Amino acid sequence: MDVFKIYGGRKLRGEVKIQGSKNAVLPILVATMLHRGRSIVHNCPRIRDVFIMIDILKYLGCKVEFIDDTIIVDASGDLKTEVPTQFVSQMRSSIFLMGAIIGRERKLKISYPGGCDIGHRPIDLHIKGLRKLGVEIVDDENGLMECVAQDLKGCEIHLDFPSVGATENIMLAASVAEGRTIIRNAAKEPEIMDLQNFLNSMGAKIYGAGSNTIFIEGVKKFKDVEYKIIPDRIVAGTFMVAAAITAGDVLIKNVVVEHNIPVITKLEECGCTLYYNDNELRVIGPKRPKAMEIIKTLPYPGFPTDMQPQMMALLSIASGTSIIYESIYDSRFKHAEELNKMRADIRIDSRIAVVRGVDKLIGTSVVAKDLRGGAALTLAGLAARGTTIVEGIHHIDRGYQELEKCLQDLGAEIERTSY
Ligand code: UD1
Repeated sequence: MDVFKIYGGRKLRGEVKIQGSKNAVLPILVATMLHRGRSIVHNCPRIRDVFIMIDILKYLGCKVEFIDDTIIVDASGDLKTEVPTQFVSQMRSSIFLMGAIIGRERKLKISYPGGCDIGHRPIDLHIKGLRKLGVEIVDDENGLMECVAQDLKGCEIHLDFPSVGATENIMLAASVAEGRTIIRNAAKEPEIMDLQNFLNSMGAKIYGAGSNTIFIEGVKKFKDVEYKIIPDRIVAGTFMVAAAITAGDVLIKNVVVEHNIPVITKLEECGCTLYYNDNELRVIGPKRPKAMEIIKTLPYPGFPTDMQPQMMALLSIASGTSIIYESIYDSRFKHAEELNKMRADIRIDSRIAVVRGVDKLIGTSVVAKDLRGGAALTLAGLAARGTTIVEGIHHIDRGYQELEKCLQDLGAEIERTSY
């Protein structure tokens, strides 16, 4: 079992280049299947979720090559229309295979993704949207969803909540539906815009992504495409907090600074000094961060839930008491218990965390229970006195490409070792 062994107390200094976005590349890889031809996708991160998605594409019948940071997908052959349960259970986001495969083959058998480590994650909005487009979805005798679409017809869909995955699933299926689809109360995340831009480069007719209304004119055919994925704003945010929590000075390159404004704002409130232009930003951490009255996670452009654990690690050593309100997920505070093992003082009541800043975290053994929680514990280890062992780092490998190497380059004492 691999763990991170971290000797805390080093101030991070230097430069880090941010990998391509996990949450953009996953739906884009799925979208390549809409085209019976070749797609070339650059700036792909070499992370576990991407490797799993490649395995799924290969299983379904695509030819896939991954060279450096470029993935080439050839989806010109016949594709299978059943996704084995093991894939859906390994990676929840495999659920947006629905939009692409139904769009292309008009049928699909897939299991429900079920719950996960950060809380209850239903897919009712995906199902409602796809049904509205004309997909019949019934449960078979084994509890799998059997989806069939004689025709896909453009329509108006109002999402009860701006779900990222539901918006993407509907965009994928609607891009080949007859006529016009309008998604209202759509998610506005930058990754949605990246999906729109990718699909349009392939010949789709979509506009409005990035706002809460997306218009999609269905097309019959796509063309070969070459595309570059946007930088990962959550990985960038994680390195921003790494600088902040170690009183360091880090230049973060290859970012779209605009995507990180919600995190920049909060770090400034904490006492960090930030300098930035469009594509890079420098974060200088304060001697000790200041507490924050309240920080509430919200859909973009609100503060991202995927940065909540890292921010909690930072606030755990702030001067004063901070409140964190998690509005997106109902059970995304598992890292708090682990931080408390490091002598943080965090109390949880349902979706609220009260974080009383302590002078110092103390290194000990902690367990990552999910991806961003694992990142938060690693950051806490960088700031802690003594040695921190982070177990469960396979979660971290889902989303961060060689996190420990990037941190070592910034002067951190961290190693991946067997335990
Ligand atoms: C995506 C991101 C994930 C991020 C999340 C919120 C990817 C691959 N993952 O996940 O990293 O944490 O956005 O920013 O892009 N919901 C429903 N019914 C649905 C769908 C969602 O009730 O049909 C609820 C969920 O339970 C959750 C909330 O809506 O409470 C947000 O979910 P959603 O925006 O769909 O997140 P994902 O697309 O799964």
